[in-house]
Amino acid sequence: MTRSEVRPRADELEELLSALSERAVRYVAAADEPDARIGDPVAPKQLSHVLKDSLVLPDQAGGKDELLKVVDDILASSIVTWHPGFMDKLYASTNPVGVVSDLLLSVLNTNSYIYSVSPVLTLIEKKTSHEYAELFGFNNPRSGGITLPGGSASNAHSLIVARTTLYPDTKVTGNRDYKFVVFTSQHGHYSVEKAAISLGLGSEAVWQVPVDEDQRLRVDVLEERILEAKRQGRTPLYINATAGTTVYGSFDPFEQIAVVAKKYGIWFHVDGSWGGNVVFSDKLKHKLKGVELADSLTVNPHKMLGVPLTCSFLLARDSRVFQEASSLRAPYLYHSTDIDGEDYDMGDSTMGCGRRADSLKLFLGWKWYGKEGYGARVEQAFEVTAHLANLVANSAGFHLLSSNPPPCLQTCFYYSPNGGNALENTEEYNTKVTRAIAHELQASGRFLVDYAPPANPADGKGEFFRAVVNAPTTTKATVEELVAKIKAIGDSLAITK
Ligand SMILES: Cc1ncc(COP(=O)(O)O)c(C=O)c1O
Repeated sequence: MTRSEVRPRADELEELLSALSERAVRYVAAADEPDARIGDPVAPKQLSHVLKDSLVLPDQAGGKDELLKVVDDILASSIVTWHPGFMDKLYASTNPVGVVSDLLLSVLNTNSYIYSVSPVLTLIEKKTSHEYAELFGFNNPRSGGITLPGGSASNAHSLIVARTTLYPDTKVTGNRDYKFVVFTSQHGHYSVEKAAISLGLGSEAVWQVPVDEDQRLRVDVLEERILEAKRQGRTPLYINATAGTTVYGSFDPFEQIAVVAKKYGIWFHVDGSWGGNVVFSDKLKHKLKGVELADSLTVNPHKMLGVPLTCSFLLARDSRVFQEASSLRAPYLYHSTDIDGEDYDMGDSTMGCGRRADSLKLFLGWKWYGKEGYGARVEQAFEVTAHLANLVANSAGFHLLSSNPPPCLQTCFYYSPNGGNALENTEEYNTKVTRAIAHELQASGRFLVDYAPPANPADGKGEFFRAVVNAPTTTKATVEELVAKIKAIGDSLAITK
């Protein structure tokens, strides 16, 4: 195409957008059809073969037809997260307002590292993080935070903030002779260990604390471990407590942990990546009792609220800690928009530079659904989860590992074919059965359900199902079909004990 033939950008956008919007609407409508398929299990080599033409990167411009063929291939070969049977790990599809918010961000393509190029979105990030922090009980005019690209990034950043706030010299001189120790329950997310690795503490600096029978961190043992660390000449730095653990969904006893953290001068972080959003429900927010005592808190709208990936907030009672911990005020970038001690160049509070304004996605979702709408969404998911747990508890051959009702939206259980008892089977047999059923559930086109091993031998024998309810798509009818299907598939398997 010669320069004189270049089309107005707006025309090109209109043509591509309408082609995409027609496909996107068809894709979402198809997910709600009774015979909708979720996407087949397919190995990477097999998929590369199916997509071999689409994966070629050309020397010459491909044009619209070529582009749309690739778009069609991507849609046809992807897992349909909008499907009601998508009950995989801790997130699901977004929703119409989510798609629109993401599109708006792409159209704006602003970089929310500095106020001067992202004025509106900076105010939105500040306003949204402040209101969010207030919901969690960080009642302070300065409360708020920043968005980071995921819960792992938020947790990692909180460790940096903890170290720099409690030991300011480390910002310049590093860990030196400090032998820092980080505490988390044995069900804490692996991002805590990765954070310790990236801070140069090493993963062995993370001391795992055992859990009680409700899978909650044992505060008595936590205190013993802190004293042990001190006896060894180490410096207890940070306690991670979890609101909604990854496998079991447990909520740690925040109030008691806060007391211990305060007693020993340790940073208290709450990882609410998964379960933190119960804060929107007046009925369920009691699960977070004590989080207002935390020094920092991670929460991910991209998990329980259906905000598009990625959207994660790191919040604190006084958001200035983020700037104090990270700022280098690089003069070639940040031209000081510090007004009344309030920083408006958000990138300076992170370890990054360029950033997508993820807060807009929660902001527009919150506008659309309201706090009450989000609360209702969360409550509906808890009701469906309780229904699933009841079905599992009352059906022959099933063994419920979660409490009834489960603490969060995961239901953990075994199925032992033909009326057997999973606890009398070998670990190997249970694992084989769980994996085979999970594979066949996906092959049936109806469900994607993950599995996990027990964290402690006492918690089970071999890998078990971890089915996650996503509101509002997973309904009571969906989980009834799931239980019936697991039984039908399981009883038809020929796996020898
Ligand atoms: C408790 C918990 N923390 C952190 C994360 C990591 O969040 P992200 O996937 O956004 O990095 C997860 C992910 O499932 C999680 O369950």
